Amino acid sequence: MSGGWLEGYSALITGGGSGIGRAVAERFVAEGASVTVIGRDKKRLDEVAAASPAPDRFHTVAADVRDSDALHAAVAATVERFGKLDTLVANAGVWDYQRQLTRLSGRELDSAFDEIFSVNVKGYVLAAEAAWPELVKTRGSIVMTLSNASFYVNGGGPLYTASKHACLGLMKELAYELAPKVRVNGVACGGMNTDLRGPQSLDLNDRSLSASFAKKSPDAPPPPIPLHDSSTDPRDFTGSYVLLAAREQSGPITGQAISVDGGIGVRGFATAAGGDHL
Ligand SMILES: NC(=O)c1ccc[n+]([C@@H]2O[C@H](COP(=O)([O-])OP(=O)(O)OC[C@H]3O[C@@H](n4cnc5c(N)ncnc54)[C@H](O)[C@@H]3O)[C@@H](O)[C@H]2O)c1
Repeated sequence: MSGGWLEGYSALITGGGSGIGRAVAERFVAEGASVTVIGRDKKRLDEVAAASPAPDRFHTVAADVRDSDALHAAVAATVERFGKLDTLVANAGVWDYQRQLTRLSGRELDSAFDEIFSVNVKGYVLAAEAAWPELVKTRGSIVMTLSNASFYVNGGGPLYTASKHACLGLMKELAYELAPKVRVNGVACGGMNTDLRGPQSLDLNDRSLSASFAKKSPDAPPPPIPLHDSSTDPRDFTGSYVLLAAREQSGPITGQAISVDGGIGVRGFATAAGGDHL
């Protein structure tokens, strides 16, 4: 295709085997970019690559985002294959299925904290560390998948909410540290129908958010957000990633999060207290 906003770009996307990461990878390719997708599941990555309409611009690397050496190797493979790196999309993450503090033992908190923070927060810092030297060369940028839970309560339990608030702080700190050559921004997604999993340490890794969406009754009340009938298809959340990656479109923007969440921030209190049942 020609005339896309990311014509000639090279991007590296973590957690791109499913969900919003996959949707961003496919959208970036449609906008003219070459992409390397990192994921944990080699079989799934092979399926995603096989489905790409532009296999010569779609590369996959099986790696865990908690492994710094593997992330460095993925950056090197991207540069070897596509000549440079313009954009890092830090995205791989896990949810806590809204397990509240009062439903977690100290031992569970201990292990789930380490697992959730090591994927959601350390995974982003390590990817940024591996990518920044190449991004400096291209005056490139980092786009982080943030969340409504980067701003508001009850989009997760304490561990997920704290991890996504940490990512917001990380985004701003890196926007300062890497300026003026590298921009760092975020897309704070609201609820999307994806394969989002829970932590292994809470035995929630077999649970997928898509199953909860599938189970939802058509009579269930809509989510308490202004755009309550807006799409939950991750493909409909990709535009902000393209905007923030494209230096021609967002060159003066850094340290910002675009909330793509149906307007949670203008709804006021949905419920006043979360602990009425205690
Ligand atoms: N689905 C939502 O409603 C929602 C809302 C806001 C933010 N988010 C965020 O979106 C991001 C992507 O999640 P998603 O909803 O697309 O779910 P998803 O599970 O479909 O995608 C996440 C991907 O990351 C991969 N991954 C997980 N841990 C990894 C690791 N240690 N190393 C390498 N890859 C790993 C998974 O295999 C998966 O392919 C996450 O950061 C999540 O917090 C999701």
